[in-house]
Amino acid sequence: MTVTVFNKIIDVKNTVNEWRKNNKTIGLVPTMGALHNGHASLIKKAKETCDKVVVSVFVNPIQFGPNEDYNKYPRDLESDRRLCEEMGVDIIFAPTPTEMYGEGAKLSNTDITFVCPPYNLIDCLCGKSRPGHFDGVATVVLKLFNIVTPDYAFFGQKDAQQLFILKKMVKDLNLNLTIIPCPIVRESDGLALSSRNTYLSKEERERALTISKALNYVHTLYKKGITDSATLFDSAVSVLDKEIEPEYIEFRDYETFNKTDTVKENTLIAIAAKVGNTRLIDNIII
Ligand code: PAF
Repeated sequence: MTVTVFNKIIDVKNTVNEWRKNNKTIGLVPTMGALHNGHASLIKKAKETCDKVVVSVFVNPIQFGPNEDYNKYPRDLESDRRLCEEMGVDIIFAPTPTEMYGEGAKLSNTDITFVCPPYNLIDCLCGKSRPGHFDGVATVVLKLFNIVTPDYAFFGQKDAQQLFILKKMVKDLNLNLTIIPCPIVRESDGLALSSRNTYLSKEERERALTISKALNYVHTLYKKGITDSATLFDSAVSVLDKEIEPEYIEFRDYETFNKTDTVKENTLIAIAAKVGNTRLIDNIII
C-alpha cells in the first residue's frame, strides 16, 4: 500500500469524510517531520488503535521564537514518506505555511487567531525561555484536529509539558477526541530520541548522555528513599557534564503541574539543557 501525501486541507477533509461514511476510526500523529524511531513508536501505537492513520508533517513557524532554529530545523519529506509507507500510514498531510495560515498573513496575533493555554502552564519550564511557544503549539494542534477530526491523537511523553497542555486544551475546549500519551524512546545508551540530536557533534552527544544519566540517578536515589526535591536537584546537577548549562531541573506534580518539594508517585522530573548550541529536553515520571 502506498502512502498518499497531501498538502491541501481540502484533500485531507475529502478523504476523512469518506472514511467517516465507512465508520472507520481515525488516528492522527502530529509531527514536524525528520521522523525517527520515537515517531515510529507513535505511528505503531496509532496503527494498533485505529483503522486509518494520518501523520502530519509540518514545521510550524508560529511555535518558534525569532532566534530559534525554524530555518535550520531538519526537513526530509522523502525519508519521512518512506518510513510512513513502511509502517502502513494512510495519509501524510504536509501543508505549506500559506496553506495553514493564509496568503500574506503575518504569523502573529495581529493577523491570526491563537489558542492561549493557561498562563500557569506556559509561564514555566520550556515556556519561560520560549515565550509564545505553547500558544503556537496549541494553535497548530487545534487546527490539525479540526482538519483531520481524529478519534485519537498520539503524542510523545518526551514533551511532557506540551502533552499536559494539549490534554488540558482537549478538556477545556470540549474536543471530541482522546489523546494517547506514548513513552519516551531512547537510544541503547539512554539518549532520548529527538530530531535535534542531529545537530550534536560526537563530543556533544557524549555530554548530552549525562542528561538521562542525571534523571536515572535521581530515580535510583528516590527508590532508596530520598524524596526531598532540593537534595535530588543537587544530585542531578552533580551528574550533568560541567560544560552543560542546565536551563531548568524541575519537580512537578503531573496531576496538577504544581511544583513539588517532595517527590512521590506521578512526579514529573524534567530537565532542559543547552549542549553546545543545541537545546535538549528530557524527563522521567516517577
Ligand atoms: O511535538 C512536535 O513535534 C510539535 O510541537 C507538534 C505537536 C507536531 C506541533 O507542531
